[in-house]
Amino acid sequence: EENGKIVERPHPDGAIQQFPKCLIIGVRKCGTRALLEFLDLHTGIQSAYHEVHFFDDDKNYNQGLEWYRKSMPYSLPNQITLEKTPRYFISHGVPYRIKRLNSDMKIIVSLRHPTIRVISDYTQIYYNKLMKNETPDKFETMALDPETGDLNMRYKALQISVYHHNFARWLKIFPRNQIHIVDGDNLIVDPVSEIRKIEKFLGLSHEITYDKLYFNTTRGFYCMRVNSTMEKCLGASKGRRHPDIDPNLIQRFNKFFRPHNEKLFKMLNRRFPWS
Ligand code: A3P
Repeated sequence: EENGKIVERPHPDGAIQQFPKCLIIGVRKCGTRALLEFLDLHTGIQSAYHEVHFFDDDKNYNQGLEWYRKSMPYSLPNQITLEKTPRYFISHGVPYRIKRLNSDMKIIVSLRHPTIRVISDYTQIYYNKLMKNETPDKFETMALDPETGDLNMRYKALQISVYHHNFARWLKIFPRNQIHIVDGDNLIVDPVSEIRKIEKFLGLSHEITYDKLYFNTTRGFYCMRVNSTMEKCLGASKGRRHPDIDPNLIQRFNKFFRPHNEKLFKMLNRRFPWS
């Protein structure tokens, strides 16, 4: 888009702009950027680098499907276009809208330990405030109800980590085998094994190996070998140190999430090493 107008560019090598065949729908702070960029290393995949917010934002959705298609990167006809917008996971009405575009859409959801996800979410908002020269709230202020001292059920970050609430809506619209779940904690320590499962899910050959991803000791995370001369890590906002949180409060979160985790495991027919 340039000056508010959609510009048609020449089509290099017969490449075209195609609707995504696969969406990373969330969950926020569970490694969605790492997934998108790592998968883009695959010759069978072309990732849209920005979050398009098509299905969750009425302003965009009302622009229509051609607007969405033209927001996609150029790709070869046999490549899979991949888009990620983590807000899709928590937005009502989105599963239905996606189904209307393509009932075969492949859906990827990454999950992390729910308490760690809350703290990661808090950390992001903390830094966003600092960048705007605002004073961030203390974690306790966000996480606890000031009157009762109980966990604050209205805290958005807490609500998002009750994964089964949102998952139930997706499973009403999409069959379980069309949704692939990534272990976002494992993605940090063993990305190739998580990516390999996605390659299989998408019917692609196994290309993303530890030649393409290497552990960067300075960053403390895996980074990409884009080609023989270029290495790339995710942006500085990914993998920041989390503030120290009172261990008692962490325990309270863990305890709160435990029954919700069990509901999720049952819903997904899969366990995670969280509880
Ligand atoms: P933290 O910043 O809390 O550590 P998202 O992209 O969905 O916002 O997720 C951000 C999280 O991705 C980061 O959370 C980080 O832990 C995780 N992550 C996974 N693999 C990563 C990688 N190779 N480099 C940086 N962050 C990575």
